Amino acid sequence: MRVCTIIGARPQFVKAAVVSQALRRRGIEEDLLHTGQHYDAAMSDIFFQQLGLPPVAANLGAGSATHARQTAAIMTGLDDWLRQRDRYDWVIVFGDTNSTLAGALVASKLHIPIAHVEAGLRSFDHRMPEEVNRVVTDQISDLLFCPTDTAIENLRREGVAGRLVASGDVMRDAVTVFLSNARGVELPEPLARVCTDDFALATVHRAHNTDDPNRLAGILEGFSRAQLPVLFLVHPRTRIALRGMSIPDNVVLSEPVGYLHTLRLLDSAVYLMTDSGGMQKEAYWLSTPCITLRDETEWTETLTNGWNQLAGTDPECIATSAQRLPPPDAPQVPIGEVDGLASDVVARELMR
Ligand code: UD1
Repeated sequence: MRVCTIIGARPQFVKAAVVSQALRRRGIEEDLLHTGQHYDAAMSDIFFQQLGLPPVAANLGAGSATHARQTAAIMTGLDDWLRQRDRYDWVIVFGDTNSTLAGALVASKLHIPIAHVEAGLRSFDHRMPEEVNRVVTDQISDLLFCPTDTAIENLRREGVAGRLVASGDVMRDAVTVFLSNARGVELPEPLARVCTDDFALATVHRAHNTDDPNRLAGILEGFSRAQLPVLFLVHPRTRIALRGMSIPDNVVLSEPVGYLHTLRLLDSAVYLMTDSGGMQKEAYWLSTPCITLRDETEWTETLTNGWNQLAGTDPECIATSAQRLPPPDAPQVPIGEVDGLASDVVARELMR
């Protein structure tokens, strides 16, 4: 069996790392295709170094552009690649980025079966580019790996044609597999210094938050009301948006960091403030409370007993959420759990 795995953005490198290991355990041959959506060393290379991903078969070098141009560039590159190769048995796509959508559309037109890992997530907000990417990808996928029961219900309601598999969550595998390495990783400055005492970790990268100065200002004001230092890992898009804005004294800015560093910081932080989807779950699995800087979440299970709180970008809401963190022994419901590893379920079902 031969598969082509399409990756392009940070969270996809993490998911592909564990799925790739599972494919190798089953003797499945894999070509890893990097679309080039993320290209900075801190957004891409470091993940390959830390996660032991196999070398990529090709990098399409799509880079940054408007959604239409970026998606089109990835589609053109992929179409050339897939036509030149012997037929693959599957194309694997992950999550909800423009690389996911482009991969699914091209494979679909070439009649190559599509496996979508992390299928069925919904925010029900069609103004989010990721929501459009998810809905379209799920409609044309043949095998849909659903991390949660909620994801399965969403897809049943939409009547998708592909086969649904309750696979569990491959991001949970990644936390399980990489946590001990992460705990041993050395932190560069200023992370090491901040990490010696209580701190909150923060990330912001959603277009909805970065492209609206009022929302971004609200977030910064919310950070300023935290009673402890806020370590803010700044995505390249956010760095541009922050130009000319005043950064509160308790906020320490840092470049984006690799997966192991992120896990270590998440594990040590008193709480997380983020608009990332993946980090809401990672925080939950590490029992670090999360304040989500959005009005909705795809991962509604994380809201159980206040482990995750939706604060949007209102400074008052962000501040009061920080005063209402759950006690360390607040019960959690299992999220994305399955017998064994989700990535092994993926490999097994591809073989079927
Ligand atoms: C993308 C995904 C998002 C995912 C995120 C993970 C889409 C629509 N969005 O968002 O779902 O959560 O990745 O990080 O696919 N840039 C750089 N260097 C890079 C990459 C990006 O400078 O290596 C800058 C560019 O200015 C670019 C902007 O960031 O225009 C946005 O990058 P893009 O990859 O389009 O989307 P993300 O915001 O990273």
